[in-house]
Amino acid sequence: MDPLKTLVIATRNPGKTKEIRELLTGYPITVKNLDDFGPIPEVIEDGERFEENAYKKSSFTSRILGLPTLSDDSGLCVEALDGAPGIYSARYAGENATDAQNCEKLLKDLKGSKNRNAAFHCVISIAVPTGAALTYESTCQGVILETPRGENGFGYDPVFFFPEFNKTFAEISREEKSRVSHRGKALREMREEFDKVMKWIYLQMPLDDKFSCEE
Ligand code: IMP
Repeated sequence: MDPLKTLVIATRNPGKTKEIRELLTGYPITVKNLDDFGPIPEVIEDGERFEENAYKKSSFTSRILGLPTLSDDSGLCVEALDGAPGIYSARYAGENATDAQNCEKLLKDLKGSKNRNAAFHCVISIAVPTGAALTYESTCQGVILETPRGENGFGYDPVFFFPEFNKTFAEISREEKSRVSHRGKALREMREEFDKVMKWIYLQMPLDDKFSCEE
């Protein structure tokens, strides 16, 4: 596996991998994910910010595999709840909570609140085995409804109303969501300068044979 032509996505989610692979079509890079490798220890995501957790995932995996690695960390921050569920978005209603249980808890915690402002946040981190990393981040503002609407998407999509579309994220297609979502915007920002990212990876990768003195 050529470390200068491989980008590992620190996920086992085939949807996420596909999205990034499609986004980077045309670049001389092969996108892999954790399922392309043997068993890898779990990263402990105990950071207090999205940036910290994204960096933990990318740098840990990159060190283990010796390959440039991209990870993302995202979640929902609700104004009236002082930013909760935030980094705890996936397990807001408990360790193995389902999406429906998380949404239900959110609606319960917001019951009676007039302030329904919320934002999805996404941080993308690309790290190399030395520990250096690049970061991209984006947000998407919306409003939390009082009852879920729509069947698409995942997580908090059915309760996240996006005023510009007059619909929840669970009532729009994957393509529509990707155009405006926190993750879509952060990923496109990265793609817009992916030539520079590849150059950065090249300069950062600790390879003995990179600058050969031999004829
Ligand atoms: P992850 O960092 O992408 O795994 O996201 C963590 C959690 O944040 C997910 O389990 C969801 O609960 C929530 N989340 C992140 N992005 C979205 C989204 O686009 N829609 C709905 N929920 C999301």
